[in-house]
Amino acid sequence: LFAAVEMAPRDPILGLNEQFNADPNPAKVNLGVGVYTDENGKLPLLKAVAAAEKLLLEAPKAKGYLPIDGIAAYDKAVQALVFGDDAVASGRIATVQALGGTGGLKIGADFLKRLNPGATVLISDPSWENHRALFTNAGFTVGTYPYFDAEAKGIAFDKMLAALNAAAAGTVVVLHACCHNPTGYDLTPAQWSEVIAAVKARGLVAFLDSAYQGFGDGIAEDGAVIRAFLEAGLNFFVSTSFSKSFSLYGERVGALSAVSGSKEEAGRVLSQLKIVIRTNYSNPPTFGATLVATVLTTPALRAQWEEELAGMRVRIKAMRGALVAKLQAAGVQQDLSFITRQKGMFSYSGLNAAQMQRLRGEFGIYGVDSGRICVAALNEKNLDAVVRGIAAVL
Ligand code: LMR
Repeated sequence: LFAAVEMAPRDPILGLNEQFNADPNPAKVNLGVGVYTDENGKLPLLKAVAAAEKLLLEAPKAKGYLPIDGIAAYDKAVQALVFGDDAVASGRIATVQALGGTGGLKIGADFLKRLNPGATVLISDPSWENHRALFTNAGFTVGTYPYFDAEAKGIAFDKMLAALNAAAAGTVVVLHACCHNPTGYDLTPAQWSEVIAAVKARGLVAFLDSAYQGFGDGIAEDGAVIRAFLEAGLNFFVSTSFSKSFSLYGERVGALSAVSGSKEEAGRVLSQLKIVIRTNYSNPPTFGATLVATVLTTPALRAQWEEELAGMRVRIKAMRGALVAKLQAAGVQQDLSFITRQKGMFSYSGLNAAQMQRLRGEFGIYGVDSGRICVAALNEKNLDAVVRGIAAVL
């Protein structure tokens, strides 16, 4: 049965973790996967999460099946966070608990394939490596719209807009709500307005991937684009991840929301999303989503979480500034200000695959071959080593 099975390539991001873990170099630094580590290089357990966990452990509950669409209080809290309380009251959004943001994307992709099997999916060029794979595996033909302008170190916005305006009605357009992965370059509010107008005029289906809310400019600021889509009266999808913002990576806590035209329509959409879930993994796990729901709905824990998220955001920004200053002090001549203009966990460094491989082989510094480095994993202790490596390969 398996004799002809070919060896698949390593995952371009998670495969790096495997390589990193196997590397005996004691000075190795992992800037590959998008994971926030603190000033001591440790994965944080947020205080708000630890407090919620303590509450749960003090009153242990039996572990029954959850409803197919997850914990109702969680779905409602996520919807309120992502869209605002008014939107929840309208009843026209169906939100289901998902296995991380990836799970949300996959539920949406499978539902869309049933709804509109002939549609093409467009992702940004470049995009998170898994977008293409995920939508391809759901049966779609996946193309790209221009996004990154290497020369300008920014967004090729005119080209992006032209591509959207040339897309056929029904085309699914995957957009990064904030903290674009991998480039770190986000659209301005004015540019988003133009994208929304194009989506509306062309009858496109927007699928917003929101995995980094709170890591750009703030929770409300980073969610503004989703509200703008809502206000435009569009029907669209949002996948939400709490992996990074709650530091709950392994608990796989996320959601998918589908914004429809009415409460009645949302009920029908929800019934279909439940079929997708039931036939994939039946129903979601309890623990992580209970933690997030507890934090989001307990005012003191919510305030603490917002403060801790702000702390992560501020520290990443400080590391961006320190990286630029130290690279310049190390003699790098080129303009590096783009690093501090980028938002979120990643910097598209401009290094090519050969340079990234040299960084890995010679210096034990792991980043993605595309040139993406996770600046959320920089700290005062590893910064000098990273600077030495980058300055050498430049
Ligand atoms: C990343 O881009 O590194 C993260 O989103 C983690 C992942 O699953 O790829």
